Amino acid sequence: MSITNAVVPVAGLGTRLLPATKSQPKEMLPVGKRPVVQYVVEELERNGFKRLLFITGTNKDSIENHFDPSHDLIRYLRETGKEDLLAELEFERADLHFFYTRQKMQRGLGDAVLHAEEFAGHQPFAVALGDSILGRHANSKTLSRMKEAFLDNNCAALVAFEEVPAAEVKNYGIAAPEKEPLDGQSFVVRDLIEKPAPDEAPSRLAVAARYIFSERIFPALHETKPGKGGEIQLTDAIRLLIRGGEKVVGIKLPDAEQRYDIGNFESYFQAFIDFALFDPVYGEKLRQYTQELLQAHKQQG
Ligand code: UTP
Repeated sequence: MSITNAVVPVAGLGTRLLPATKSQPKEMLPVGKRPVVQYVVEELERNGFKRLLFITGTNKDSIENHFDPSHDLIRYLRETGKEDLLAELEFERADLHFFYTRQKMQRGLGDAVLHAEEFAGHQPFAVALGDSILGRHANSKTLSRMKEAFLDNNCAALVAFEEVPAAEVKNYGIAAPEKEPLDGQSFVVRDLIEKPAPDEAPSRLAVAARYIFSERIFPALHETKPGKGGEIQLTDAIRLLIRGGEKVVGIKLPDAEQRYDIGNFESYFQAFIDFALFDPVYGEKLRQYTQELLQAHKQQG
């Protein structure tokens, strides 16, 4: 069986990025040359997904526009001798089918995923958060590893985790892994603790924006009670699966595949700097500029 359906939730309000997100989606903010969600879509295509469902909401039309073929723009570039720029629109030709549905009220990530119930049917599917990039320039193969592990383990959910510094566990859902790992990279998840204090965290393994679910996630989501702010949390539904005796497996991101979270300014700025400094065309000059800037800053005391 191959897993080719993916769900990309992009309906969140992005309030932590105001004012940048007042009238545009955070998923369309640029990181280096591309909007965040383009990296997500390219990652999904590279990992063999064919049908993508975006869970959208108010103010998210630009995401749909971005993936539409832009015939007028292409004609304009041809007619004005700017053929070299056509390569920048190559992504429009990806072998993907896009579907869109709207989450009318932002009732949390769990509620967003519930909107995929009909789309997914009885097939396993991936969830890739539209505000998170895996690996520099989205070269991540993690979702392919996740698909394999999902099928090998016959589990209800497979979740990607990233090891974060102890001071950061309070920002994420943290795994309580079984003592005996399945192998060097994967483990059975015994529990998930939402945003624990560092001394209460069972590990430093933070949920990292990529999941694969069997259809068994939907009854769990229906059962999940709204939590803080009236939101239905995806982690609460995963906990229900575990409590119901279902197998949930975690897989660690490799060191080379950092998760870039574009949900707050600190990590957004870091992601932008990282991608810009290592841009194949502009990176070298930018690194030199940054060094000079930091040097001058240091001298000024
Ligand atoms: P966040 O947890 O960062 O929430 O969403 P948010 O509402 O977008 O941002 P803040 O907290 O107001 O700053 C993680 C991912 O889940 C999607 C978001 O679009 C983002 O890709 N999401 C979140 C939804 O699709 N629907 C929701 O109701 C909440």
